[in-house]
Amino acid sequence: IEKGALLYTGKAKKMYATNDPEVLWVDYLDQATALNGKRKVVVEQKGLLNNRISSLIFQDLAKHGIQNHFIAQPSEYVQLVKRVKMIPLETVVRNAASGSFERKFGVAYLQPLVQPVMEFFYKSDELDDPFINDSQISALGLVSPENLAEMKRQALQVNQRLQAIFDEMGIQLVDFKVEFGLTMDGHVLLADEISPDSCRLVDKQTKKSLDKDVFRKNLGSLTTVYREVLDRLSVLEGSP
Ligand code: C5P
Repeated sequence: IEKGALLYTGKAKKMYATNDPEVLWVDYLDQATALNGKRKVVVEQKGLLNNRISSLIFQDLAKHGIQNHFIAQPSEYVQLVKRVKMIPLETVVRNAASGSFERKFGVAYLQPLVQPVMEFFYKSDELDDPFINDSQISALGLVSPENLAEMKRQALQVNQRLQAIFDEMGIQLVDFKVEFGLTMDGHVLLADEISPDSCRLVDKQTKKSLDKDVFRKNLGSLTTVYREVLDRLSVLEGSP
């Protein structure tokens, strides 16, 4: 596979075409951003750690029947993925209160939720990713009702499996964000990444943050905690 033209520069990844029209080349960057990109710093090894973590999780999900865009991890900073047409929504699943949910409803940090909460945010840097409901999603024609239902089904399946993985690692999965795309033949496929950038993870015993909140709240070294997440992922078969 050969790396082709740059297609897109994100906050933590760069995407390139390849000589295969169905395959994209992703470079994971040593870069962290907060406040929708307004705060940006270089974080040593972050790209390598997130690439490895995301690759291991995607492989595990596929093994457990949750198909996704992951194809291969040819080197430390590179991932090959299946090309999809991205749906411009962030799908958030929450098991306990934190972040915007904690602020919005004035509830205690890590208050358990009676059932998982699902939320959607419209992907737009100019608008700061506003919350969007089902009816607004349909009215704007962002995704069909059938595909929205499929996204919800898959997001809850991902929640089940991620909770099991992290539980075995001594970690509580507080919440996470996923993104989906449509394949050439129109199927909803899990895409983007699953890493400590997009999940809220706390140590079950100490309640210490093991995710991007360390950067958001200036709690210490991101590299150190992401390395710890990767080390604990050795509970997965065939890793690291
Ligand atoms: O900020 P909020 O509480 O809504 O975030 C919920 C979850 O979604 C967190 O795990 C956060 O890391 C993730 N998220 C993300 N990208 C965003 C916004 C939130 O990965 N742009």
